[in-house]
Amino acid sequence: MTRHFAGTLRLEHVGQQIILKGWVQKNRDFGDLIFLDLRDRSGICQVVIDRGRGANDETVNAAKEARGEFVVQIEGTVAARAENVRNAKLPTGDIEVVATSVVILNRADTPPFAIEDDTDAAEELRLQYRYLDLRRQPLTKNLMLRHKITFAIRDYMNRNGFLEIETPILTKSTPEGARDYLVPSRVHKGNFYALPQSPQIFKQLCMVAGLERYFQIARCFRDEDLRRDRQPEFTQVDVEASFIDEEFIYSMIEGLFAEIFPLAGIEVKTPFPRMKWQEAMDRFGIDRPDTRFGMELVDLTSWASDIEFAPFKDAIAAGGSVRAILVSRGASFTRKRVDELTEYAKKLGAGGLMWVKFEGSEPNASFKKFVDAPTLDLLREITRAEPGSLALIVAGKTTMVWDVLANLRLRVAREEGMIPEDRFDFVWVTNFPLFEWDEESQRYFARHHPFTSPASVEDLEDPGKAMARAYDVVLNGIELGGGSIRINRSDVQSKMFAALGISEEDAKKRFGFLLEAFRYGAPPHGGIALGVDRMVMLMARAESLRDVIAFPKTARAQDLMCDAPSEVDEKQLSDLGIAVKMTP
Ligand code: AMO
Repeated sequence: MTRHFAGTLRLEHVGQQIILKGWVQKNRDFGDLIFLDLRDRSGICQVVIDRGRGANDETVNAAKEARGEFVVQIEGTVAARAENVRNAKLPTGDIEVVATSVVILNRADTPPFAIEDDTDAAEELRLQYRYLDLRRQPLTKNLMLRHKITFAIRDYMNRNGFLEIETPILTKSTPEGARDYLVPSRVHKGNFYALPQSPQIFKQLCMVAGLERYFQIARCFRDEDLRRDRQPEFTQVDVEASFIDEEFIYSMIEGLFAEIFPLAGIEVKTPFPRMKWQEAMDRFGIDRPDTRFGMELVDLTSWASDIEFAPFKDAIAAGGSVRAILVSRGASFTRKRVDELTEYAKKLGAGGLMWVKFEGSEPNASFKKFVDAPTLDLLREITRAEPGSLALIVAGKTTMVWDVLANLRLRVAREEGMIPEDRFDFVWVTNFPLFEWDEESQRYFARHHPFTSPASVEDLEDPGKAMARAYDVVLNGIELGGGSIRINRSDVQSKMFAALGISEEDAKKRFGFLLEAFRYGAPPHGGIALGVDRMVMLMARAESLRDVIAFPKTARAQDLMCDAPSEVDEKQLSDLGIAVKMTP
């Protein structure tokens, strides 16, 4: 007799004597006839314990005792269910196992929540008892899919000549823009390792080492504000290659996606469309555009420049812009709905939300005192507004206008059911600016990271205009990955640090080893990193990253199961030479 997995049994197994091992999902006791639903990681199957079909006292008694989550071993024969009791909802619904033996391997307390596919148990409770939550089929299936994906990634990378190389976890800070998690050390009191935000510098050093093609399924750590698609520790497929250009990365990654997405039944059409950063911002207001639906942004700056209306005038005078989205059938939105959208826009930084409703013969506008009919007609022409549509207009600093309209576009599309959920639209976003100006600190930051190659070295002379050899791959409005062709000359890297306002001394202290490495023959190289958790989330059609990570953290970066982070005892601290002094 061999062991089978419960969820795999089908009519073809009828007549076979088998062993099952797993957990009791449900126990229905009708006296001499007992049904146990047995669950293992593959699924559920019905077991019948019937005195009339060979179950002795011992078997019947064990079956009666076996409540939910007891661990049991069943021996029995697979039998076809009578036509009228087949269960089409269950993959094993055509068969049942007639037990000749039931052995209880371990007993279980009543779990804190019912372990069922659809649960309404609070997520906090489920995270606290994650090992029980993971017994639920949807989560088990997500982890199985994740395994298949990472397995296929390794296979693909291997076939393409990439070496899987591990890089340190205890390391020095790498600047990816988030805060580091620091690790003190007993041996070096007062000094700290940093957990890697990514293996960026190490993979570049692998190229200097001549390893040519590197990849790693790497854990990264970032102490940043969390969202639905961000975890403090997450996994990347990290890739780097020498003697390559952007085209190599594009086709490599397209090839990879074309292999792994079908594992979740999603066909991928290659090559992916490409969109320059400027175009993404102009059309979608965001550098990770969701291209599954329209409602694209329209630039109304020149139209608005003749209108004597303070919000338009002021925005344009300050070098900003006036832009809009056009919501088809939006003219019927209630006053309350428009007010809600206005509040939302204000929360995102807009001074207000102007609107024009195209209905009847004369459009109506929230600023109608300031516009005449021909001007609104011109707007109708520019936006190609159909009757019944609504223009939502934002004026101000262009970066704010983009951000507000991008968010409004997504919100309205979601609320109006305009997003085709079964579509998977990939796009490469390219030609990024190299730097981003930060108002608060009045300095430039590297938009990707400081190792990204400028489009040309001369670009570094004028940071405001410098372009990067960087690219992101975006799926349905989610950034799946990003990378770049790197700087491989120490003089260019030094210039880059200078443009970022990093002093020579500071650059030497933080990245001296990299600058030095570049002096010993660094090949031209570049790479990319893909977010594994995000990829699996989209492929599993899951709501949150937490649904595809075995032991995830909460939005407050806590592990509720083992209660981390938590205080440590005095002895541990004194060994490290650390005294905790809380500052407000
Ligand atoms: P970047 O910071 O863009 O690039 O990260 C690459 C990809 O990693 C995923 N990602 C995350 N996933 C979950 N939670 C997070 N907190 C999180 N942060 C990032 C995203 C993102 O696109 N060293 C560079 C890569 C390179 O230049 O080669 C880097 O880390 O999917």
